[in-house]
Amino acid sequence: MTVSPTRVEGAPRWSRSSMALCEVFTDLVRFSREVDRKNPLTEDVQFRVAKDPMFGELPLVKPPLRLALKALPLALRWRFTPTKGEPGRYTSFDEAHDDAVRYFGSLPDPEHYDVREEHLGDAWLHYMLVSKFSLWLEPHTPEGGAAADAKPQYVLDLEFMRELDAAPGYERHGGRVVIDDTRVLCITLHGRMYRPGDPAWELVKYRFRACSFAWVTLLHTVLHVREAAKLFIATYRFLPHTHPLHALLLPYLYGTHRNVARLQRTVTGARGVTAAVAGFVSGPAAIDFVAKRTGLRLPPEYPVQWTEHYRDLRAIWDALYAQVDAYVRLYNLDPATDPQIERWLRYLGAHAHPRLATRALSPDSDLSLTDVVAYLMFAMSVLHFSIGHTLNGTTDPRYISASVVRSDSPDLWSIVSTRDECLIRMAVYATINRHTYRLTDDFSDLCVDNRGKAIVRAFSEAMRARTAEMERDNEGRAYPRLLVPGAIGSSAAQ
Ligand SMILES: [Fe+2]
Repeated sequence: MTVSPTRVEGAPRWSRSSMALCEVFTDLVRFSREVDRKNPLTEDVQFRVAKDPMFGELPLVKPPLRLALKALPLALRWRFTPTKGEPGRYTSFDEAHDDAVRYFGSLPDPEHYDVREEHLGDAWLHYMLVSKFSLWLEPHTPEGGAAADAKPQYVLDLEFMRELDAAPGYERHGGRVVIDDTRVLCITLHGRMYRPGDPAWELVKYRFRACSFAWVTLLHTVLHVREAAKLFIATYRFLPHTHPLHALLLPYLYGTHRNVARLQRTVTGARGVTAAVAGFVSGPAAIDFVAKRTGLRLPPEYPVQWTEHYRDLRAIWDALYAQVDAYVRLYNLDPATDPQIERWLRYLGAHAHPRLATRALSPDSDLSLTDVVAYLMFAMSVLHFSIGHTLNGTTDPRYISASVVRSDSPDLWSIVSTRDECLIRMAVYATINRHTYRLTDDFSDLCVDNRGKAIVRAFSEAMRARTAEMERDNEGRAYPRLLVPGAIGSSAAQ
């Protein structure tokens, strides 16, 4: 079986994935021009309801229906246009790249899009499983019980994804992978188990990866439309600008309204990314399906805690939690004595997740106010980064595809949907180029007094020290640690 990429005729310098990306540039740039000549994509929210002293005008999430109707068919043109030779389309990747840079700002170098064999290896899959996906690993006992001297095993079980209908021409998702601390051991797909070396191993591995990326894309969207959007609305609606809790949360809300406005059209819409890229019949149905299965987990509650990724995540959580705890004590923040905080929590408990109402206000919750505030700040920044930027510099469509094309051929390329993958990568690169604040930024100017400033400043100083230390450590590594605070946006605005 061959796993080599097929070269496109007449484009010797660029791989098949690069040419498909070029088509997507055409469509996204056209889309941007149609929607807004100054700002690419959909920076078109026009309903301004509040002025913020640091961040300027903050429009309410309310995309104009007229623009939405106009933009949607343009965004999806790529699905129905011929792949080559149409007038107005780019003829080379260089041309597309240069034009896209003018609209989106800087983009990765063209060679970044070429395929790399290492992305297909079992070692790279293991790296992804113990980093990006490690938060969803569960301890695993092999059938018949583990041997006395066997290493502990862990499973990422996504077989439930087979319940989602696939669009015509696509396969249903699903699969579960078992690993130990150093190796991928097996993948079970729709009831059949495969091990490394099996003739179908590369195809099955691709199918599991595709499922994991489809699932994590949905999970990321759930975080945006549930916690992020609801935190933005609750904070602006129930906490005045002069409230200490509003001041603490502001950097973690930055830009969320624009982000969610875009998502409503390009991601969660009936034919948005979640449907088109992952090969589902309906994006909204897939999001709803995953939202119903998605609980709310604080970092100390993750079942598998030995991975380096978890330890890095936990270190940021502990520093963030200490900041929130000190802040809550300093200002005596308490829903029992502050009706504004009470309304803020009740809204979050009703519209985002019942645990967010806190144990003070709901028998369904076991959390304190400090737990809730720390979780929300963490979810907007670290969790959003960890879930959302799964691509991690990997642009190989064989590696990060979120769909499986139906085919009987044993050739890996026959089941890879390069155009879909390129679209999602472009969306990621376009969005991560937007401005956001980082966990290393000093937000103390937003605080209402000097005592609050000292607490907030201590956190950003700790994050800067951690960043310097991790950057040094990453220099000598083939597979870097990912949760470098200086790379993590404070809000889900990316
Ligand atoms: Fe995001």
